[in-house]
This record gives sequence, structure tokens and C-alpha cells, in this order.
Amino acid sequence: MDESLSVVVTGGNRGVGRAVAAEAVRRGHQVTITSRQPEAGAAVAREIGAELVAGDLSNLRTARAAAGEIAAAVPAIDVLVHNAAVWPSRRVLNEDGFEESFFTNHLAPFLLNHLLEDRIRRVVQVSAGLYVMGRVDPERTPAGGDFSATKTYANTKLANLMMVPLFAERWKDSGITIDAVHPGVLRTGLGERGGFQGLLLKTVKRSLKSADAAAEPVADLLAAEGTGRYFNGRRQRPLKPVARDADLARRLWDDAVKAVEVA
Ligand SMILES: NC(=O)c1ccc[n+]([C@@H]2O[C@H](COP(=O)([O-])OP(=O)(O)OC[C@H]3O[C@@H](n4cnc5c(N)ncnc54)[C@H](OP(=O)(O)O)[C@@H]3O)[C@@H](O)[C@H]2O)c1
Repeated sequence: MDESLSVVVTGGNRGVGRAVAAEAVRRGHQVTITSRQPEAGAAVAREIGAELVAGDLSNLRTARAAAGEIAAAVPAIDVLVHNAAVWPSRRVLNEDGFEESFFTNHLAPFLLNHLLEDRIRRVVQVSAGLYVMGRVDPERTPAGGDFSATKTYANTKLANLMMVPLFAERWKDSGITIDAVHPGVLRTGLGERGGFQGLLLKTVKRSLKSADAAAEPVADLLAAEGTGRYFNGRRQRPLKPVARDADLARRLWDDAVKAVEVA
């Protein structure tokens, strides 16, 4: 068995997060899941043998509060797994004026990494292979000016992934490590919606593996050594050129610093 680690998994109440959290518990780790649904989250935590921290990653106010709750519940975090994400079907702005997935998928992990950096040793960022389809326009993507029910998710996962090498660089002397992982294309609630697109998605999902297929490859990264890497399941892969635009990455970082008011 690996050394027992204290592991925090955001959005651990269902889908990939739940599967990864359950696998981490099976490996002997002390696991805390976060969920914006306190009752459902508590039930899942009980079922899998984890602790629960209630936390909503929808906007600056609630995400800051969630960071405070996580810090209070888990003063020393060996591994923070950013798993929570949303695939929006329509443009919804949060109370800060950000498109909801831009905030939850990109700005919330960015904020938590800053607010918790004095107490984390490692970050595992659940990414998405669809990042290759992403295009981030720093003028339009944050408020969903370029919103698309099919592409915005990829755009926000790309923005999020582009921060990984920059966090690795920021943390190189402190010893905090960060890796990103695509968990596979899986049958979860991601992107659920009504109408024709929803039906199509449901049909496609029937043939997919369940979220449990992500549990082992993602859990393997909890205790891994290395930083700034991207994995497709268990395989390390170089980032495609779209994610290696250094000028855009720096611009997105600087904009995120201003957006979430961290240094
Ligand atoms: N499924 C796939 O095929 C696939 C492929 C590539 C990457 N991924 C990645 O895997 C991760 C998990 O996705 P999934 O497939 O498991 O999706 P899911 O079943 O839709 O679960 C998403 C999780 O994120 C939480 N979440 C969403 N918005 C939140 C918010 N504002 N505040 C707090 N929690 C929030 C959800 O909480 P609620 O239950 O409260 O909504 C839920 O726990 C994501 O990072 C996704 O990008 C998934």
C-alpha cells in the first residue's frame, strides 16, 4: 500500500470524482470530498468512507468560502484533486460576470491553488482530452462572448490546462508538484442537457465505460513524483501545440490573477 495521504477531491459526490475518491479510500488514504450539495455529498462520503466539506465553486465568494472550509477541515493537504467541472449547454454568467464554466473549470482551481498553496504538497488536475479542440479568446471567453454549447467546455479546459506548466514553474522551489490527467471518455453526468443534443449524448454515453474506469489511472497519480506533466490515462503525453502558446498562457495567468485577486 502507498503511504497514507490526506487527499481532497473536489466534486467528489458523483462521476469521476466519486470514483477517484472511493479508490483513494481503498488505497488507505484519508479522503475528503467537496460537494456543493451538503446532503447528497454527506451520503456519498459515508458510503465510500470519506469526509465531506461543503463547497460551491460557482463564483468568487463561494469558492473563497470553500477554500476556507477545506483549509479548516484539512490543515495539511498532501494531494488536492481538482475534479469539479461543468459542461454548460447555455451561456450563464455568475455573480462576478464570468461565464459559469470559465469560472468553475478554470478560475476556481486557479484560486484554490493560490489560497491553499501554503498547505498543499501536490495537485492533480483532472483535465480533458478535448482541450485540443479548445480556442481561448482572452477578450471573449471569460464572459462567454464566444459561447458555444459544444466548444466552451473545451475552451475552459484548455485555459485550465495551460496553467499547469506555469504552476509547476511557480512551485519548483517550494516542492509542490502538479500534473494533469485526462480520465478517459466516460459515462457520467457531464454535459447532460435537454432537447435533441441531450438525447444524442445519452445514446452515445450508453456505449461508454463507467466512471470507475478513471479511478485507477487518476489515483495512481496521487503518490506519483514529477511535475508539469499531462497524462492521457496512464500514459504521459506531450501537450499539443494549442496548449503550448506561452504568450497566451501568460496572458491568461495575468488575467486570472486580476480576476480572482491573488498575487
Ligand atoms: N466524463 C468524461 O467523459 C470526462 C472526459 C474528460 C474529462 N472529464 C473531466 O472529469 C471531471 C469530472 O467530470 P465528470 O465526468 O465526473 O462529470 P459530472 O458527473 O458532471 O460531475 C461533475 C462534478 O463537478 C461538480 N461541480 C460542477 N459544478 C460545480 C460547482 N459550481 N461547484 C462545485 N462542484 C461543481 C458536480 O457537482 P454537482 O453534483 O453538485 O453538480 C459533480 O460533482 C471534470 O473535470 C471533467 O472535465 C470527464
